[in-house]
Amino acid sequence: MSRTLIRGGLVITASDEIHADVLIEDGRITALAASGTPAAEAFTSADRTIDATGKYVVPGGVDAHTHMELPFGGTFASDTFETGTRAAAWGGTTTIVDFAVQSVGRSLREGLDAWHAKAEGNCAVDYAFHMIVSDVNAGTLKEMDLLVEEGVTSFKQFMAYPGVFYSDDGQILRAMQRSAGNGGLIMMHAENGIAIDVLVEQALARGETDPRHHGEVRKALLEAEATHRAIRLAQVAGAPLYVVHVSATEAVAELSRARDEGLNVFGETCPQYLFLSTDNLAEPDFEGAKYVCSTPLRPREHQAALWRGLRTNDLQVVSTDHCPFCFTGQKELGRGDFSRIPNGLPGVENRMDLLHQAVVDGHISRRRWIEIACATPARMFGLYPKKGTIAPGADADVVIYDPGAEQVISAGTHHMNVDYSAYEGMRVTGRVETVLSRGVPVLTGREYTGRAGHGVYTPRATCQYLT
Ligand code: URP
Ligand code: ZN
Ligand code: ZN
Ligand code: ZN
Repeated sequence: MSRTLIRGGLVITASDEIHADVLIEDGRITALAASGTPAAEAFTSADRTIDATGKYVVPGGVDAHTHMELPFGGTFASDTFETGTRAAAWGGTTTIVDFAVQSVGRSLREGLDAWHAKAEGNCAVDYAFHMIVSDVNAGTLKEMDLLVEEGVTSFKQFMAYPGVFYSDDGQILRAMQRSAGNGGLIMMHAENGIAIDVLVEQALARGETDPRHHGEVRKALLEAEATHRAIRLAQVAGAPLYVVHVSATEAVAELSRARDEGLNVFGETCPQYLFLSTDNLAEPDFEGAKYVCSTPLRPREHQAALWRGLRTNDLQVVSTDHCPFCFTGQKELGRGDFSRIPNGLPGVENRMDLLHQAVVDGHISRRRWIEIACATPARMFGLYPKKGTIAPGADADVVIYDPGAEQVISAGTHHMNVDYSAYEGMRVTGRVETVLSRGVPVLTGREYTGRAGHGVYTPRATCQYLT
């Protein structure tokens, strides 16, 4: 049996903060005891002892929204499962939930098999899958039941991107009805893509081709309208709903209203909406392309509603929507036509640090940091308490975090396979120091000690967050 002991740190979970020693045996947490007590002194004969004095001991991050190798706009997201999960480890994230894609005319199974083939043997940390449903038909609906049984318990649909991932209201309602019966959770990309495509065409006809127009045509009202429609369709179906990458004040208001009505409606936002804005999209010399994602970055005024939503629990999760495209050769596909810029931002490595900065800045508490980044994503997507907490029985996915270290985020030092950082030059306080994945050190005092293939596929239970 291998035994690791973490001594003297401040253990932070979604519910508690306690100076405690943590005992790990064979990849699982087996005991915690308040530091200095006889119970903690009795933890002896470890193979490895980590001194965490002055540090935080937190659960490994759970990033419930990534797109490694996603095909989009004629190219592929630049992080593979190997490079993307290595970067995740560097950033203190020990589980990702990535999106397998059903292509139109193909089965869910074909899409899922393809994503397993991309990931298997390549991941540095554990991984699971959601399924993007692009083609709702009788066969797809039957397959949803089978996928839930085998641990793919959530399905993303798109009200945007007509002709690619788009589902109409009837297809959405059918999928929601199915998920109401089988325990699956529908995740919604809520933007009115039909209306947006009209505005895109009109903008381009006026010669408005720069990246900032991406933000102008993808209007906050069209996010709010779609959010409202998704909520009411889910209500009609009697199904829970999780709205991904919420960015607009008006969309948060729709979620808040539905939650006040007692509906099982949940919302996710992402660091880019909390820390970046349309100012970035307006950067000159086509640099704004680095910030093109959908939903789009909003004027800075929207950030207050997102922070408030995170505090009131009208928003429950912060994921990255990590979907990197290099500026050179990929974002550049949209020079002269913003609608051809591949959509997505890198961030899987930055999320835990950016949210710690939110603690430093006073937006959220330390426990709320762990709740929105670790515990709730694990519960929302059926991984709890194996993932997302520090407790006996949980996987020993543990981060030793130095809350006082200063760092400057930069593409020059990050580990994501992308040629820019969306947060270039940003100073943050706090840094991941050591990361254990199922007890195995994958980052040891800022030295990478992981390997491709350590991470394993992790089937999921159904949503554990329903009221
Ligand atoms: O711009 C984004 N968000 N790209 C990834 C695909 C999606 O819609 O999540
Ligand atoms: Zn989306
Ligand atoms: Zn409320
Ligand atoms: Zn996404």
